Amino acid sequence: MADLIPVAGPWITQREVDYAADAAANAWNENHNIYNTRFETAFADYVGVKHAVSLPHCTAGIHLSLAAFGIGPGDEVIVPEVTWIASVAPVVYVGAEPVFADIDPVTWCLDPASVEACLTDRTKAIIGVDLYGSMADWTQLRKIAEARNLYLLEDAAEAVGSRLDGLAAGSFGDTGVFSFHGSKSLVTGEGGMLVTDDEEVYVRVMSLRDHGRPPKDRFFLNQEVGFKYKMSALQAAVGLAQVERIDELIEKKRQIFNWYADQLGERSDIWLNAEPENVHNSYWMVTIVTEAAIGLNKFQLMKALETRGIDSRPFFSRLSQIPAFADRPESARFLPEVPQGANAAEYGVNLPSGYGMTEEKVARVVSALNEILV
Ligand SMILES: Cc1ncc(COP(=O)(O)O)c(C=O)c1O
Repeated sequence: MADLIPVAGPWITQREVDYAADAAANAWNENHNIYNTRFETAFADYVGVKHAVSLPHCTAGIHLSLAAFGIGPGDEVIVPEVTWIASVAPVVYVGAEPVFADIDPVTWCLDPASVEACLTDRTKAIIGVDLYGSMADWTQLRKIAEARNLYLLEDAAEAVGSRLDGLAAGSFGDTGVFSFHGSKSLVTGEGGMLVTDDEEVYVRVMSLRDHGRPPKDRFFLNQEVGFKYKMSALQAAVGLAQVERIDELIEKKRQIFNWYADQLGERSDIWLNAEPENVHNSYWMVTIVTEAAIGLNKFQLMKALETRGIDSRPFFSRLSQIPAFADRPESARFLPEVPQGANAAEYGVNLPSGYGMTEEKVARVVSALNEILV
């Protein structure tokens, strides 16, 4: 059989290797932070925000945001029901209650009307997710947040390079967070970034992410109990090289999507990632949702692809339906019996979208799909 086509994979050049080698040799003692500072500055410039804080992963960024907002027991945070668990788990870490809202069936991001239906006197924040590179309706979400004085957190883990009305993903919340996990569009192995324009939140985050130390503390006189969430210089060096190449990275992602869209164009029983007129989608993962009438759910489709040497991933499941949230029926109390997101969660599959994809490999995947989906 032909080689397995992996579902993801980074694009690493000599630049990443050189910077990482230089960090390994030199980023110690008084130079320990130089790559982190350069990466943070370049990333903040790219997103168009004042502050960027490099972190060990994006989950830390969500946790730190909620802690900096002062969210805790008795508070509710509205989250999409269909997303990766990392968007929601930090709500539980801080002792608050996640409240599941429905997603839009086309963009796969938080539906503002459903968010409105989830508001209570205990609501303190909304976490929107730019799923697979799509953009949530941040204009409406901001309106809701402002009317109720709520914090808005943009989980842009999967959306570096996407834009809404010309503005970068990650710039719409009180904080925005990104993931640089090895499968993402911009990688540092593991890694994340929190961005914000809010001075007060930034100062809180800087203390909370370093065990509550005051700025430049050398005396270990911690002012509060915090967390330890830092990115290593070696990771930051790789991240700097990647952000310096961000335009070619995103261009390649879009090319991969366009190969799929061109080759699948004839089929009216498969839906792909949406790109409304005011959105520039960076298409982290090319994703299909197949018509229910075809009769193959996501796990069956994945299996059929696997037997043809093609790796894939399931669309995220409805969080209210997985064991991790089985003991939290109150989180699902505002969801309709059949949410609009149910279809994508049942019939959605992420196709191979890594930087190793070529037009020929896309053709192999599409021909397998045409064979399977009859
Ligand atoms: C939507 C979403 N949020 C948050 C995360 C968490 O990112 P990390 O694994 O870097 O903590 C991910 C990671 O895959 C994600 O896809």
